[in-house]
Amino acid sequence: MPSRYAPDASDLALTQHPWRGKTIVELGSGTGLIGFLVAKLGVGCTTWITDQIPMLPLMEENAALNPDMVDPCHVAELNWGEPVPADVPAKPDVILMADCVYREEAFQPLVDTLCMMATATTEILFCYHKRRRADKRFFGLLKKHFHYDNVSDDNEVRRKAYQTSGTFLMRFTKR
Ligand SMILES: C[S@@+](CC[C@H](N)C(=O)[O-])C[C@H]1O[C@@H](n2cnc3c(N)ncnc32)[C@H](O)[C@@H]1O
Repeated sequence: MPSRYAPDASDLALTQHPWRGKTIVELGSGTGLIGFLVAKLGVGCTTWITDQIPMLPLMEENAALNPDMVDPCHVAELNWGEPVPADVPAKPDVILMADCVYREEAFQPLVDTLCMMATATTEILFCYHKRRRADKRFFGLLKKHFHYDNVSDDNEVRRKAYQTSGTFLMRFTKR
């Protein structure tokens, strides 16, 4: 996912990036890597990296180890399926998720959180690594509320490379 937005000669000038001025929430951030990369690009957005309480000390520590972030990147608790905490935007412009489909009991809470936070204009990018047939159930739950498809406007060479290894970058849109 970050590679999609990593600056190279063919990318838009950062000052014209579509995420300029936007609020971005990453769900299930883990280490926080994706949020940090977004904040390092310096497109002029504000990012919240979120996860469950036990992950927050690691995320805080990693944030401190990355002082070269250009844009603000906040660390916050957000448990899927529960109300969005007051310190996280309830309706962000962009939602990011990487490798968040791996525990069946969390499929419905994750879809519930997406339903709570997304509007018809929210851009939701999901980096998915295909592992188990059971993941199909997540997509079954998802499609009741969202359209989803592989991102097709990424650089073709890198898209082929990650898809060949079983990794897909998808975009969800609320129905
Ligand atoms: C496989 S890790 C992926 C971490 C990171 N996005 C990455 O790609 O490296 C899944 C993350 O989802 C978080 N997670 C799992 N269930 C959750 C829940 N119910 N609410 C919030 N986060 C949850 C876990 O704590 C974990 O950090």
